[in-house]
Amino acid sequence: EPERVLEIDYVFKIVVVGDSAVGKTQVLGRFAKDEFYFDSKSTIGVEFQTRTVTINRKSIKAQIWDTAGQERYRAVTSAYYRGALGAMLVYDITKRQSFDHVARWLEELRAHADNSIVIMLLGNKADLTSKRAVSKEDATEFAEEQGLFFSETSALSGENVESAFLMLLEEIH
Ligand code: GTP
Repeated sequence: EPERVLEIDYVFKIVVVGDSAVGKTQVLGRFAKDEFYFDSKSTIGVEFQTRTVTINRKSIKAQIWDTAGQERYRAVTSAYYRGALGAMLVYDITKRQSFDHVARWLEELRAHADNSIVIMLLGNKADLTSKRAVSKEDATEFAEEQGLFFSETSALSGENVESAFLMLLEEIH
């Protein structure tokens, strides 16, 4: 098959942040490759994946950066945030603490990223309904107060992952 030449109109850098084990790598894997890794390991350092989508007849390459939530593995310098146009701030709906820490991640974003960065709050692991520890109402209210977009996702089932990334990319675009 001949190689298709795809013209890229824009490259958008997106960063994914949030506590360790909330599912940042899995959410990214679901969006970039439609995969879920059952033997997911903690991220060490920084990795990125890309996926190109078409929005309003423009092809947009999303370059999505993922880093470790664990402090000891984090090499987060301003380089991680530099040039980022969007951020996915992820918590785990079954871990109250990961939601309580969202304010700290926001501070970090606001300290290092560009003022115009578009931020989306993601409540991940929405498939684990019986273990829910953060209500959708609390998260919606917080997101509204802080001017963030909000969605609940499941990297495991794939629910809302695609639509969340598309919403973020459309908003940047
Ligand atoms: P760090 O790299 O340490 O910052 O973690 P992370 O936020 O990248 O988490 P990761 O994607 O490695 O996922 C952590 C664990 O949660 C893994 O065991 C995943 O399989 C699991 N997990 C991630 N997303 C989901 C989800 O939507 N539902 C369920 N049930 N489990 C998930």
